[in-house]
Amino acid sequence: MSKLFYNIGKIWGVENEAQFQKAGAEMAVVEHLENAWILTEHGLVLGFGNTEPPEAEQMVDLNGREVLPGFVDSHTHAVFAAERSEEWVMRILGKSYEEIAQAGGGILNSAKKLRAMSEDDLFERSLKNVKTLISHGTTTLEIKSGYGLDMDSELKMLRVISKLKEAFPIIIKSTFLGAHAVPPEYKDNREGYVNYLIEEMLPAVASENLADFIDVFCDKGFFTEQDTLRILEAGWKYNLPGKIHANELGYTGGVQAAVASGAYSADHLEHCGEAEIEVLKAGKTMPVGLPGTSYFLGIPYTPARQIIDAGLPFCLASDFNPGSSPVANMQIVWSLGCTQMKLLPEEAFNAITLNAARSMRLEKQCGSISPGKRADFLVTSQKNALYNIPYFFGQNHIEGIYIAGNQFE
Ligand code: NIG
Ligand code: FE
Repeated sequence: MSKLFYNIGKIWGVENEAQFQKAGAEMAVVEHLENAWILTEHGLVLGFGNTEPPEAEQMVDLNGREVLPGFVDSHTHAVFAAERSEEWVMRILGKSYEEIAQAGGGILNSAKKLRAMSEDDLFERSLKNVKTLISHGTTTLEIKSGYGLDMDSELKMLRVISKLKEAFPIIIKSTFLGAHAVPPEYKDNREGYVNYLIEEMLPAVASENLADFIDVFCDKGFFTEQDTLRILEAGWKYNLPGKIHANELGYTGGVQAAVASGAYSADHLEHCGEAEIEVLKAGKTMPVGLPGTSYFLGIPYTPARQIIDAGLPFCLASDFNPGSSPVANMQIVWSLGCTQMKLLPEEAFNAITLNAARSMRLEKQCGSISPGKRADFLVTSQKNALYNIPYFFGQNHIEGIYIAGNQFE
């Protein structure tokens, strides 16, 4: 059925000809249209304009409100068993994230709780998380495993993600992150765990078709550059592109490993100097910043300004997880990108829409309002939304959510 959304005050993020990403100076450009309409059919955008609106079977009056494309959150750990607020208090009192992890807290704490939880309970809890993400404007989502760290529990997490894909009309992509931490069974035998992951877990994940991407936490105290290269290479054998955690805690070769193996994205990059920027320039890997993590852990922000000024594309994501970034609101991520990373509102907007779609090779399906793409868009109560959403940070400015042309809830 054709649907016309009319009487729109302004549409942000329109494209007549879909681009695959924005890089360097292009990131400051956001096309918009005033007093406009959008025509959709079969869940896709057929066209938009600000001339006399066409006829359609259904007409939706948006009463002068502004519209923007749904947010694309390309990096989350939205399936978890419990919060870790006690660790947060330990950090307030002076312990570091690494100290807590070395003492058996952190990811291993989450793994202990997740292993003990039934698949049904995990699914129920995760349903609520995804609803929260969507209610703040996320209409495309990536979710990682990585709190199981053994065969049964990793498969349990990935099955929960598969059920979430069925339960929601949004696009959800799943990532196998068995290499999130070395589990207690392999304490002091990291190589043994990497072998087990490559030889046993990965084939099982692939044979049940449970993952779209593969991830490794390539960092100080977790997995090395060599481990990362091995795991990413093994992933390609099953057609799983890499989207990796790199250089959060130090200069650990994560960026080099990501680019060398053709990973789609290298995420975190709180430690990213000139050498890493040069490596990124020579490849096709999307640099992804996670400002919620820097805010919540009190660690440096990714040098987004230098990355964009070097002519590269840049993406932002929430990293929604119970340890380092409990933020499910991409409007706050947008704001942090501006205030803390010194991105223009336009640059941060492109980083959470088009470039985020590109980081999952979904740029032909979402990330802007463009003919042929999904009709995933947000209606906001804010005027001058491109500026006022990240400016009035901490509120939910989203009044209506349309997913494939249908109103959500
Ligand atoms: O992206 N850095 C590794 N993984 C997550 C944190 C996971 C956790 O602490 O539970 C992150 O920050
Ligand atoms: Fe993460």
